[in-house]
Amino acid sequence: MVFVIGLVSGLFALLVILRVVESRQTWDTHYPRALMHLYQAQLAQLHGELAAGTCSPARALPRLETMRALSNDLEPAFPDLRDHRRFVAHGDQLRDAIDVALASPPDTCAALETRLDDAQRACNECHRDFRH
Ligand code: HEC
Repeated sequence: MVFVIGLVSGLFALLVILRVVESRQTWDTHYPRALMHLYQAQLAQLHGELAAGTCSPARALPRLETMRALSNDLEPAFPDLRDHRRFVAHGDQLRDAIDVALASPPDTCAALETRLDDAQRACNECHRDFRH
């Protein structure tokens, strides 16, 4: 009985502590991974267009524009890496790849796939260097 009460109150104390720790975290704690998850959400929807064969500039442009806007925040989201030359270069590589797609919106699935491959390459190269 004493053991069970001890266990339950121990668990409760742990939950309270975890809750306090979490509430002390500010936006910048979650922002790097949040940004990456938004990228992934946009890419996944674009790949969905490829899989369904429903590619069109009207469907692709809003996603590409979102990814381009998110890409402005790579440096602010990673303050420790923002002065790292290679990190910024990978960011530029992604921004350039999306700019190319925005400049001539892909009107076939093949064209969209090429643009997504270029973007994905930039994601992968930054991850290779900076994601541990
Ligand atoms: C300039 C560098 C850079 C670019 C470009 C980049 N990432 Fe990342 N990404 C990172 C870093 C650094 C991490 C590790 C973040 C961490 O764990 O704190 C990461 C982590 C991730 C994660 C895992 C998040 C998690 O919850 O652990 C996903 C998913 C991801 N990136 C998707 C993408 C996609 C999709 C793209 C391209 C559209 C992309 N990233 C472009 C640097 C980059």
